[in-house]
Amino acid sequence: MQRIDLNLGARRCPILIGPGLLGSQALLAEHTGAAQLMIVSNETVAPLWLPRLREGLAGRPFAQCLLLDGEEHKTLASAARIIDALVDARMNRDCMVLALGGGVVGDIAGFAAATYQRGVACLQLPTTLLAQVDSAVGGKTGVNHPGGKNLIGAFHQPVAVITDTDTLGTLPDRELRAGLAEVIKAALIADRAFFAWLELQIEALLARNPEALAEAIRRACKIKAGIVERDEREQGARAILNLGHSFGHAIETGLGHGRWLHGEAVAAGIVLAAELSGRCGRLAAGDVDRVRTLLVRAGLPVDPPQLGRERMLSLLGMDKKVAGGRLRLVLLDAIGAASCTPDFPRDALVTLLEDRAGTGAA
Ligand code: NAD
Ligand code: GLY
Repeated sequence: MQRIDLNLGARRCPILIGPGLLGSQALLAEHTGAAQLMIVSNETVAPLWLPRLREGLAGRPFAQCLLLDGEEHKTLASAARIIDALVDARMNRDCMVLALGGGVVGDIAGFAAATYQRGVACLQLPTTLLAQVDSAVGGKTGVNHPGGKNLIGAFHQPVAVITDTDTLGTLPDRELRAGLAEVIKAALIADRAFFAWLELQIEALLARNPEALAEAIRRACKIKAGIVERDEREQGARAILNLGHSFGHAIETGLGHGRWLHGEAVAAGIVLAAELSGRCGRLAAGDVDRVRTLLVRAGLPVDPPQLGRERMLSLLGMDKKVAGGRLRLVLLDAIGAASCTPDFPRDALVTLLEDRAGTGAA
């Protein structure tokens, strides 16, 4: 088992990574001290992985709340269902919520834990690669509002993150690849050697080699934990975690949510960010090629949909109406170094989008 500690002054969140962890009675006993436990999962993950967690809890009683699967259920109504279940089970302030699932379950359960009785303990048990390297680590929780994604939320650090790498064995290929986009992003913003390692290991990762996956998760979590330690509440340093995300969100919104997975949109967004960095003279042409090539090898989309330059600019908040505004983008200064900056020529962005997203409507 690998261990990384996310240290926030007096608070510490251990991140434990390895095979079989959900079934480890010693580990679960160590990290679930609470007398009352509420397992939150969904209709897809529970049949696959709740039996192993039950084994790990060694006969201890727990209540459960199983949510419907899907981003469309990441709502206040789902958080309210968890809170209703906590009330029905007469859970006290010293209870613990165990979030077993991907980023959707983790975000809703974390938010419910943050608000029930003004905050109860939450243990994150992520089962997608994306959740293991990104959403379970860092304390941001939340749900969507019809007016926008993640509009309602709270910062609430989990007591621990326990990542059983065996869970990746049942993850659909497309979801695995989407998670790899976030792994590649982590390397790009902070660790050139990790990027080179990913270039060597990408086939092993796609083939779900357990050692390679555990190492990729460990290194990506270490990067994320280091950034969150510097900026827990997203006041500055965290911004570089958004490499590829401004373009990615524009693609997701422009296409309509759900057409591309988040990681897929981020992959195409990373390529746009790398190409813009190249056109601004920040990133060497050879490095732009390396970024694109690795994402292609990971089976991810690298070409944005043909939404058109004007639509992309509008989605980025850079259309004519706000042309005087200062859009900040995360750009690469090298493989392994990124900055969030408003300093790029607008013309370079406009011609990039014209070249890559077309001139007309999709
Ligand atoms: P997800 O939770 O929807 O999981 C993807 C699909 O895989 C779902 O159908 C799920 O039921 C299924 N699944 C999960 N684990 C499985 C397993 N082991 N085997 C088989 N199927 C499994 O999606 P995601 O990509 O994990 O997370 C996306 C969410 O994470 C978004 O809502 C996003 O906003 C959020 N997110 C939050 C943060 C944060 O800072 N809190 C960061 C990044 C992403
Ligand atoms: N929960 C993930 C984050 O804080 O970034």
